[in-house]
Amino acid sequence: MTGFSNQFSTEAVPGALPVGCNSPQQVPFGLYAEQLSGTAFTAPRSENKRSWLYRLRPTASHPKFVEYTGLSGLSSSPFDQGPTSPNRLRWDPVPLPVGEVDFLEGLRTYAGNGNVAEGVGMVAHIYACNKSMSRVFMNSDGELLIVPQEGRLRIVTELGVLDVPPLYIAVIPRGVRFRVEVDGPSRGYVCENYGAMFRLPELGPIGSNGLANPRDFETPVAWFEDRDERTELIQKFQGSLWTTTLGHSPFDVVAWHGNLGPYRYDLTRFNTINTVSYDHPDPSIFTVLTSPTDTPGTANVDFVIFPPRWMVAEDTFRPPWFHRNIMSEFMGLICGQYDAKEGGFAPGGASLHNQMNSHGPDRASYEKAIAAKLEPHKIKDTMAFMFESRSVIRSTGWAMTSPTLQPHYDDCWADFRKAVLPS
Ligand SMILES: [Fe+2]
Repeated sequence: MTGFSNQFSTEAVPGALPVGCNSPQQVPFGLYAEQLSGTAFTAPRSENKRSWLYRLRPTASHPKFVEYTGLSGLSSSPFDQGPTSPNRLRWDPVPLPVGEVDFLEGLRTYAGNGNVAEGVGMVAHIYACNKSMSRVFMNSDGELLIVPQEGRLRIVTELGVLDVPPLYIAVIPRGVRFRVEVDGPSRGYVCENYGAMFRLPELGPIGSNGLANPRDFETPVAWFEDRDERTELIQKFQGSLWTTTLGHSPFDVVAWHGNLGPYRYDLTRFNTINTVSYDHPDPSIFTVLTSPTDTPGTANVDFVIFPPRWMVAEDTFRPPWFHRNIMSEFMGLICGQYDAKEGGFAPGGASLHNQMNSHGPDRASYEKAIAAKLEPHKIKDTMAFMFESRSVIRSTGWAMTSPTLQPHYDDCWADFRKAVLPS
């Protein structure tokens, strides 16, 4: 079903969806009605997100959750550690696993900010796995934006199934139960968003079209499995993990309607806007989705991509310029090469440039760009992205001691020639 945050109606069995009301005295086929809300009941109508689910059993019918300690890689902010490094950081790709590892076991938390208890901030994780989940996960702490880099994911959710190959993203709303199936070695990035739900950015003078167009977002139709088998359900709640065992599959929603659901988006459909005269605009021009804060124009987290595009600007340094920003940037690379880095930033790797700490093109990219003949040039076969946040993104202890952390990243900005003034 297409369209961003549309009011969808879908039923896997004809006649399962009540018509004309949400909670009839008797739901068709004896299904159980349940409202799932993504915003406060009283959120403004333009912000309000909720769906009604019609399922084989009420989700309330489950045994107690008990604490679970089986996932060492997953953590929530604030991270308990020493001082936050101001240094520019970059990581090599995390190796694909050798033994059998599912999506949950393969998640490693790299960096984040905010506070899970306050519903503020974001966290960046990277997964590397090779086995389909048989258990089910739900994250009560925030929505999950999943960015596959290698390997196609099939994400089974309560509201339907998403097929998500690299160059697509998927967003799973807070609390929606899901399992990730893979068909081989798989790796990618996850942005956990504690704050306001992702939405499309305002377009301002761009007008009513452009960037990620609403019609290109896809939400699955209702799909369910009627399986009375023991199923492990793991929940992240306030940064801790909890587990319980259900006697059946939780993917038992036969019909649903509403505007809250998982969705996917094909990044290659992004309508890239850039200069056709001079000067590279601010990279906010590449924003796909944004999680706003109460401060206008200042995001809890933006999801920004650097897709294939034509470079045509005249008398311009075409790659991203040097900068020191108030916003902090966690970057990843899905494929190809990022135009500000000639080397060292590999698909599956990551970099972190925090508030007020200077970065930009490496020396090789800089030298190449100032010497380039400025003809129209197409940047092809690449897709880099950024999780950009208003608050400093702090690395976890694991990320700071990982063997993938590059010890000499600063060297890519060493030995720039001093400018020569006229004598
Ligand atoms: Fe930057």
